[in-house]
Amino acid sequence: MSYDIESIKEKLKNRLIPEHYEHSLRTAGTAARMARAFGVDEGKAYIAGLLHDYAKSMSDEELVSQAERFGIEVNPVELAFPYLLHAKIGARLVESELCVKDKEIIASIANHTIGSVFMGKFDKIIYVADVIEPGRLYQGLDLLRRIALDDLDEVFKEAYAHSLMHLIRARKLIHPTTIEVWNRLVLKQNG
Ligand SMILES: [Fe+2]
Ligand SMILES: [Fe+2]
Repeated sequence: MSYDIESIKEKLKNRLIPEHYEHSLRTAGTAARMARAFGVDEGKAYIAGLLHDYAKSMSDEELVSQAERFGIEVNPVELAFPYLLHAKIGARLVESELCVKDKEIIASIANHTIGSVFMGKFDKIIYVADVIEPGRLYQGLDLLRRIALDDLDEVFKEAYAHSLMHLIRARKLIHPTTIEVWNRLVLKQNG
């Protein structure tokens, strides 16, 4: 399926504050470059990168009420930090408002914040592109950017570790799925 990128960008612009819109454009570019490096559909990765934060500019109240509308179960961590819901809700809205039906695109949007134990190449690309896009500035990014086009599993693991450490340093709650994903990564590494 081919997508009308200009019309998607127009709709995205109406949904997002300028800062989030610019971040989405940069994430799309990074996702496309990574897709090319790892033999994944570049055009699709661009669209997923573009749309990954579709629900990012919504207020906490709106996110919680959208979750209710879509019948998405909200756990106590998500209730305390409703922004976590922007991934799952964004996925549902992209499907219903933009008629994007591609399962890989939808799943990668839903998985881009907390992750999931069922992440494939495509999901990992979107997850990492979001973290390393050129507008991001924080310590440790150099390493991630250096390996981002060489070893997808490694860069994903490092990006995930980075997010987890950030949560701990900021004294934030950790979503139960995060623990599951992390344990799976460590078990896989240890064979
Ligand atoms: Fe996001
Ligand atoms: Fe993002």
